[in-house]
Amino acid sequence: MDEDGLWFLWREAALECLNADCRRRYPLTEKLFACPACGEVLQIAYELRERAPEAVRARWRERRLSEDPLDQSGVWRFRECLPPIAPERVVTLREGNTPLYRARFAAQYAGVHHLFFKHLGFNPTGSFKDYGMTVAVSQARVLGAHVLICASTGNTSASMAAYAARAGMRALVLIPSEHVALGKVAQALEYGAVTLQVRGASFDTVLHLVRELSARPEVYLLNSLNPFRIEGQKTIFIELLDQLGWEVPDHLVVPGGNLGNSAALFKAMEELRRLGLIARFPKLTIVQAQGASPLADAVARGAKRITPVPHPRTHATAIRIGHPVNWRRALQALEATGGFCLAVSEAEIADAKAAIGRDGIGCEPASAATVAGIKKLRDEGKLAPTETIVALLTGHLLKDPEYTLRYHAGQLEDALTGRRIGGRLANPPIPVEPRLDAIAQYLYDEGLPHRR
Ligand SMILES: Cc1ncc(COP(=O)(O)O)c(C=O)c1O
Ligand SMILES: [Zn+2]
Repeated sequence: MDEDGLWFLWREAALECLNADCRRRYPLTEKLFACPACGEVLQIAYELRERAPEAVRARWRERRLSEDPLDQSGVWRFRECLPPIAPERVVTLREGNTPLYRARFAAQYAGVHHLFFKHLGFNPTGSFKDYGMTVAVSQARVLGAHVLICASTGNTSASMAAYAARAGMRALVLIPSEHVALGKVAQALEYGAVTLQVRGASFDTVLHLVRELSARPEVYLLNSLNPFRIEGQKTIFIELLDQLGWEVPDHLVVPGGNLGNSAALFKAMEELRRLGLIARFPKLTIVQAQGASPLADAVARGAKRITPVPHPRTHATAIRIGHPVNWRRALQALEATGGFCLAVSEAEIADAKAAIGRDGIGCEPASAATVAGIKKLRDEGKLAPTETIVALLTGHLLKDPEYTLRYHAGQLEDALTGRRIGGRLANPPIPVEPRLDAIAQYLYDEGLPHRR
């Protein structure tokens, strides 16, 4: 396997239980989504090899010029850090390769000098999920599974459905029949997933059903419990470093839902440091929405475990998660990197989102928690204005156009209080008479109070 570089950086890999009192290991060829002994989440553990960092970096950089679909993927380009999957099994949509932008308006808004956005929303299905999905769906192929299944009303179902279509596999998306905004399911429908609305079921019931079904040999589960998704998401950090010339930023800021990204970024940091590719960790800061902040609450209390939030509330639906799967790893990441975990309000998220828009970039609501968090840390004096900060924008602006329209029209309500959000950066459409003089006054900023 060394010929094509697949095992270049490690000798052995296995599924490992994250429970410190268990730590049992299982072969990668077992289809497991939790430890059979204790029920805890599994992750992939590697026994790493020593390699010259320069050679590794050069190998990854050279692939940018290649026409090979694997090299053109922003995930498989770094395949030495991934589990062993033969190239002919790989299902890729040339995911990753997402841009790194300098923020100007948003930097000023948050009160910092060096803010960058890595926009993961510029992926084939419009969210970071594609980084992990390409690896997990390829693993489904390795295992001989041909039905992909998930419980999701959002970005996971869109991504899974797209990769299933590419792989010629069947995709089953299970969702509760009530309290579901169907907007985000549109992509899954278009990519041909069979979408089942389970009558009278809560999201938890649906998740339970999906887990039961995944015991069948032909069925493969793509929810957050899938350890192969985390592997693909590690390459977000590797790609970022490649873009920064391997200069580690001071601070990395992510929104926190199921905390898969937080876990993946931290795993990448640990592995890259063990390989000698980086010498230090950036601070990893995790931002949650106030109505769905089990991790931020635990940190504020100084608790060693989270208390699940039974009915999480926020209009940033992608982070409306009360019982995150990866909380253990996220806590470790905070401790090891010295990052913060905080919760931000609905209004703070909404205004931050508009500020990101004003940089000509935009994102979906959950992603904007990052800038809201940076501003809050800055206002509280916990962050120096000179720090180099990278915010990960996890989803594309067009994922949630209704939210954006409501914000600018002054109709967005706080998911916790029901009160209208003022909208500091609201930019509503303006009715105007069909006369040149009436329109001409808007050629300059004077007519627009919020732009002054
Ligand atoms: C756009 C977006 N941002 C953030 C998240 C939360 O990510 P994580 O579950 O890795 O914390 C999600 C997850 O669904 C998402 O879709
Ligand atoms: Zn275990």
